[in-house]
Amino acid sequence: MARQGVFSMLAMALLLGALVSIPKGVESIGVCYGIRGSNLPLPSTVVSMLKSNGISSMRLYAPDHAVLDALRGTNISVAIGAPNDALPALAGSKVAAAAWVKDNINTQAYPTVSFRYVVVGNEVAGNLTAHLVPAMENMRHALDAAGLGHTVLVTTSVSQEILHVYSPPSAGNFTAEADCFMSHVIPFLARTGAPLMANVYPYLAWAWNTSAMDVKYALFTAPGVVVQDGAYGYQNLFDITVDAFYAAMDRHNGGSLVRLVVSESGWPSAGNKEASPDNARVYNQRLIEHVGGGTPRRPVAIETYIFSMFNEDQKATGVEQHWGLFYPNMQHVYPIKFS
Ligand SMILES: *[C@@H]1O[C@H](CO)[C@@H](O)[C@H](O)[C@H]1NC(C)=O
Ligand SMILES: *[C@@H]1O[C@H](CO)[C@@H](O)[C@H](O)[C@H]1NC(C)=O
Ligand SMILES: *[C@@H]1O[C@H](CO)[C@@H](O)[C@H](O)[C@H]1NC(C)=O
Ligand SMILES: *[C@@H]1O[C@H](CO)[C@@H](O)[C@H](O)[C@H]1NC(C)=O
Repeated sequence: MARQGVFSMLAMALLLGALVSIPKGVESIGVCYGIRGSNLPLPSTVVSMLKSNGISSMRLYAPDHAVLDALRGTNISVAIGAPNDALPALAGSKVAAAAWVKDNINTQAYPTVSFRYVVVGNEVAGNLTAHLVPAMENMRHALDAAGLGHTVLVTTSVSQEILHVYSPPSAGNFTAEADCFMSHVIPFLARTGAPLMANVYPYLAWAWNTSAMDVKYALFTAPGVVVQDGAYGYQNLFDITVDAFYAAMDRHNGGSLVRLVVSESGWPSAGNKEASPDNARVYNQRLIEHVGGGTPRRPVAIETYIFSMFNEDQKATGVEQHWGLFYPNMQHVYPIKFS
């Protein structure tokens, strides 16, 4: 009886611990702020929109000073990109990396902006990959030298296309090209305590071959398990992709050391098949509600950035222009709740 009592108290404590340790999805949601639109609101207006929608983090693709000015003193956590075209210079010279930090991050330039990550390169491929880790190392060194060693992490954002196998997730691995640079990226991230960022787009995987899967599986609306992988049942492609990244990182001994952050995910509202305001609403609302609970293999909250803040008319025609949560006139493209 006494033993049983102790056991059930332990079980209760474990259960409570488990409940307490699952953060709400809303705490881990950010938005990507792309600025390739001719008619977007002023940055200060955009910052007000984030605040009024309860969005506390933002991904920026380049150090746009007007946007950084608007972020001063806001406590909005910022993932700032060092764009691909800056990689050769950043990789080639510690002085260039120090200058980049001084102009864009440094406590003198933007002391009251809450920088959380410098994202060195987005979906880097081809011969730029040779510059990736040297640029990350020089950026890390420059941030340390500027006294930002404990606050700003250095990472990179990869495409889901670097996965050679993604289903079943336990078989996840990288393409041969990606394996070459990821074998250096992952130890860097593990050593510096930074996450890997990945752009995860079930829509694009579905659209690539629409007869290979039911769109519901991409849209978080499949009624049951679609892929059984050992003990784990998968109902959606988002979880499959995230867990495939973990399996691929494990092959470089990084799966338990390096956290995955979803640096982009979303669904277009126009421009192609199954791209509609209703599907975009379903995907993004379910994404917001889903990520707090993590994946079958990693049931912990996934920090996630929705792509994107606005429809951007200066991008290629087709779906590219229609990923926004908002029209440039600040109206919602579809109703959505962030909290
Ligand atoms: C800033 O945001 C963090 C979470 O992102 C929160 O813990 C902290 O209390 C906030 N600080 C202020 C001054 O609002
Ligand atoms: C980059 O790679 C391509 C082949 O993919 C090659 O033609 C080109 O010369 C390379 N550029 C540089 C600068 O090495
Ligand atoms: C990934 O797995 C596939 C299928 O097993 C294999 O053909 C490929 O060589 C693997 N990639 C790497 C980089 O090992
Ligand atoms: C698309 O998926 C179908 C069904 O799995 C398959 O038969 C077909 O070969 C695929 N097409 C391409 C281009 O991969």
